[in-house]
Amino acid sequence: MQDFFLEYKVIIVFLHVISAVVWVGGMIAMRFAAHQSFLKIESPHKRLEHIAYALGRLFNIVLPFVIILIVTAIFMIKGYGLSQSNFAPFSHLKEGIWTLMFVNLAIMIYRRNRGEMLLNKGDMVGAKAQIELIGKFMVPLNIILGITAIFIGTYLSSSL
Ligand code: HEM
Repeated sequence: MQDFFLEYKVIIVFLHVISAVVWVGGMIAMRFAAHQSFLKIESPHKRLEHIAYALGRLFNIVLPFVIILIVTAIFMIKGYGLSQSNFAPFSHLKEGIWTLMFVNLAIMIYRRNRGEMLLNKGDMVGAKAQIELIGKFMVPLNIILGITAIFIGTYLSSSL
């Protein structure tokens, strides 16, 4: 795997970085641009409908990049021999962050789908309870985790 990594290092690191850009950038755009605009919709039903639709599209776009991010990370772990190096703690920290971000994303997808289902059944209170937490807490958490992972990546990139 080390030979493969060295031969395709530029493309592997590029795919890693672009995946982080799409995942973290997508969440920032959703939270601080799209979400603010949805809040101006007066009808609570329409507002939740638009938020659920936009979140669904965002999750579909980021999912392939989430997978590319971990696959390229595995190539880098093996290619740089990170687990046997002095950088092992940073590598493990990034693996932990990816795992937390992934679990958080999976729960967000579940809550969004449930919220949409309840909305279609006319249960506004239930739908709001499912969807509200995503924008208030779960997306911001993943943004903070993502920015932390990017910072550690910058450190690794300038030290390896
Ligand atoms: C899953 C575990 C991860 C590992 C083992 C890992 C490993 C690395 C390594 C070794 C580099 C340096 C590459 C080089 O310059 O040759 C790097 C860079 C980077 N990583 Fe990760 N990473 C992981 C997860 C993540 C996550 C979750 C994100 C963001 C969501 C992320 C974002 C970045 C970015 C943006 C860079 C480029 C930094 C720069 O070039 O200044 N990584 N990563």
